[in-house]
Amino acid sequence: MADKYIQRYSAADRAVHWTVAVTFLLLVLTGFGLYEKNLSFLFAIFGGGENAILIHKIAGVVFFFAAMIFSLSHLKDTTHFDDNDAAWIKVMGGYLNKKAKVPPMGKYNTGQKIFGLCVLVTTLVFGLTSLVIWSPANASQGLAQVSFFLHSLCFVVMVAFFVAHIYLGTIGVKDGLRAMTEGRVSEGWAKKYSPKWLEEMKKSGKA
Ligand code: HEM
Repeated sequence: MADKYIQRYSAADRAVHWTVAVTFLLLVLTGFGLYEKNLSFLFAIFGGGENAILIHKIAGVVFFFAAMIFSLSHLKDTTHFDDNDAAWIKVMGGYLNKKAKVPPMGKYNTGQKIFGLCVLVTTLVFGLTSLVIWSPANASQGLAQVSFFLHSLCFVVMVAFFVAHIYLGTIGVKDGLRAMTEGRVSEGWAKKYSPKWLEEMKKSGKA
């Protein structure tokens, strides 16, 4: 029998997520050269340092609004923690041991919730620090230094998360990418990764 599919993301959700993904990639590629002189050869992709900085600024503004919209519209699902989350962390979501007993999760597992909240916090920090480092000459030296430090710290944290997120979103969680491309997941997928969410969807007649 053909698998049944359940809507997980609307077209608007997916458009915002793709905007976040594309702008983030541009920010990473342009940001590496700004972060570390030895990586400034990457500016060549954009036709030089000046262009790279301009693209970093434009992508940064678009990323800020898209990431805020995405984070805030999923806040209900990323901020609900209960005993199952402690149990999930204990077994590391079963990623390191396939035989581990992973507790049933809602729409997102504990790792996804932590990532979602991290996106919200780092986006806010990126936004606030950008206001200062956009033209650092207008700020005090201390404020500019703290802003550059926090901006770089969030950059390093988010690049590490991004690598893990892409891996899990493509290869690590089989068929998960369908949620991002088509906006739907199979009932079998939902049973395995989001059983409590599936129950809720069934109760509300959406599955
Ligand atoms: C090409 C790049 C990307 C791919 C392939 C990708 C893949 C995915 C997939 C498949 C999901 C759905 C997971 C689910 O519903 O269970 C998802 C959700 C999500 N994505 Fe992405 N994503 C990408 C870029 C990004 C970026 C750059 C950010 C933020 C900086 C981001 C933030 C999120 C968040 C907060 C969620 C919801 C919570 C979670 O699943 O972790 N994504 N992504």
